[in-house]
Amino acid sequence: MTRIDMNSGGTAVSVRGLVKHYGETKALDGVDLDVREGTVMGVLGPNGAGKTTLVRILSTLLAPTSGEATVAGYDVLRQPRQLRRVIGLTGQYASVDEKLPGWENLYMIGRLLDLSRKDSRARADELLERFSLTDAAKRPASTYSGGMRRRLDLAASMIGHPQVLFLDEPTTGLDPRTRMEVWDEVKSMVGGGVTVLLTTQYMEEAEALASELTVVDHGKVVAGGAIDELKARVGGRALRIRPADPLQLRPLARALDDLGITGLATVTVDVESGTVLVPILSDEQLTAVVGAVSARGIVIASITTELPSLDEVFLSLTGHRAGAPQDSVPTHDREEVAV
Ligand SMILES: Nc1ncnc2c1ncn2[C@@H]1O[C@H](COP(=O)(O)OP(=O)(O)O)[C@@H](O)[C@H]1O
Ligand SMILES: [Mg+2]
Repeated sequence: MTRIDMNSGGTAVSVRGLVKHYGETKALDGVDLDVREGTVMGVLGPNGAGKTTLVRILSTLLAPTSGEATVAGYDVLRQPRQLRRVIGLTGQYASVDEKLPGWENLYMIGRLLDLSRKDSRARADELLERFSLTDAAKRPASTYSGGMRRRLDLAASMIGHPQVLFLDEPTTGLDPRTRMEVWDEVKSMVGGGVTVLLTTQYMEEAEALASELTVVDHGKVVAGGAIDELKARVGGRALRIRPADPLQLRPLARALDDLGITGLATVTVDVESGTVLVPILSDEQLTAVVGAVSARGIVIASITTELPSLDEVFLSLTGHRAGAPQDSVPTHDREEVAV
């Protein structure tokens, strides 16, 4: 398989004015985005935002209504055959043949990609090993757990040594532990130099894997940039304070309100977790907060600093939460995946 030499820092994926209409539905409504070679771009958006439509167009499975897109320098409309040879795709839904053993699945894909029998065998062995599936190599994929199937999917997408990998919601529907296994695999693929465009509804996922982020909503890009920059736009740190006595929650919030130092946003009481969240802009403010709390005689059980989550970033950029209603998306509990 030939690899195209691109200058380091070159553009692996370029999208300009991409539009896709399904009748009245504007699945994509003028999307621009660039993914630099060797980086992970997270495309974050709620269900129905247009993520899968974007991935399908970029992998030549779907023609755009208008606009342009290139992957590894190949035009999605004019050079689909060359383009397909340099990409890998893991769809939102598992694409392996359930009846076939894991090894057979990978071997067959190798053959479909024009690898020799010998190379297909070697690649299947190598990838099963890498994705910790060697022990299950001979079992039908139908007997695999969700995480194993997803790993087999990832292995399948790597067979052709892709330069650019599209991962469409790779962990949707997985339990938190399996999700982290998949994250580890993705990180190791990125370590190998592949460029990744990853769609997700999970802030944690984008934070864990991507360096840049494009936030999409209703077919439009609503924000984009380095993840850290996007966070910085939304504000500084926040202190999460848990009083030893839950009854002190509201007095604590009042004490902090009275301080009047928060400027950017207000003090939030989270009754469920028994904590108060207060935004701060400096270490001096942190010290003032702690001083004020102890001056009121409120005993603190724990105090942690938090960066704004992408959930909060999304909320402040779009006016609603990502992953919100519409379809039956598995709702994601942030506490569940906390490490
Ligand atoms: N084949 C299709 N026919 C009609 N509408 C579609 C089709 N595929 C997607 N859509 C619509 O396009 C919008 C974007 O869908 P999609 O790209 O699947 O979003 P996401 O992957 O972000 O959930 C949604 O409103 C969806 O209902
Ligand atoms: Mg989708």
